[in-house]
Amino acid sequence: MKRTLKTLTAAGVVAAIVGAGVVYFGVINVGADDPHFGPVHSLLSTARDRSIAVRSRDIKVPDLSEEALIRAGAGNYNSMCIGCHLAPGIAGTELSNSLYPAPPNLSKLGVDGNPAAAFWIIKHGIKSTGMPAWGKSMADPYIWGMVAFLQQLPSLDAEQYKALATSSGGHQHGGGESKMHNHEGQHEGQKGAVAGHHDAGAAEEIAEAGDHHGERNSAHAHEAAAAPSQDESTEHAHPQAVEASHDAPATPATQPKTHTHADGKEHTHAK
Ligand code: HEC
Repeated sequence: MKRTLKTLTAAGVVAAIVGAGVVYFGVINVGADDPHFGPVHSLLSTARDRSIAVRSRDIKVPDLSEEALIRAGAGNYNSMCIGCHLAPGIAGTELSNSLYPAPPNLSKLGVDGNPAAAFWIIKHGIKSTGMPAWGKSMADPYIWGMVAFLQQLPSLDAEQYKALATSSGGHQHGGGESKMHNHEGQHEGQKGAVAGHHDAGAAEEIAEAGDHHGERNSAHAHEAAAAPSQDESTEHAHPQAVEASHDAPATPATQPKTHTHADGKEHTHAK
């Protein structure tokens, strides 16, 4: 008995030393271009799934069929999510292709069968993955709007998607976003067709809380064949195979464009 205890203690000490050595000597590669070792990946994804399942099980899902809610969600999704999660007609972006873990293509996945879990994920984000906690800047009704929209998304084609996003009044949400979204002066000379001011959007009808704001969402051209823009004060997402020269003069663009701001939010504009 005594001997077993001694052996176990010794084994524990050796394991701790090996573990410390693995960390200290930098054996673990944190590079995002180096996928997790199989068992580590399984462990992390199980921990993620269980964490979300436990935390979202008591969330009450409201009626997600209301058109105004879906429409408001379309504008926000189009502004903030497509650089990572794509949309009908957008197959990949620099962001979506380079993040690890890769953001799922929500234009195919939708809410993945679980609107409560989608709500939780959008609100709280997922640590160390690139998925932001949108609840820091968006009030719940707007997050539900995106969930409602995501439920419809897999059934939309590119035209329907664009029409819905364009008619939505753009990016709007209640919460603490006002400081983060001051794009004034960043995009001179470009106007967004999907832009909206807070008093123009359908979300007004659904959002009872929050101090909504609209903004001059402006255009940044990086969809296929779209002209590059001059303004490079923030990061941009270039869908695959687009040669974008940031030095070229700004030309009016014709395609929807995705634009990532320094605060990590995506803005896509039809013009
Ligand atoms: C910077 C990139 C990025 C942005 C922007 C982003 N996400 Fe994510 N999102 C991710 C990543 C990465 C994951 C996967 C995390 C993982 O594998 O655990 C994810 C996961 C999700 C999931 C879970 C999907 C599933 O069922 O597995 C939902 C829902 C989601 N995001 C919604 C959104 C919405 C809505 C927005 C916009 C408001 C958004 N995301 C913006 C990177 C992003």
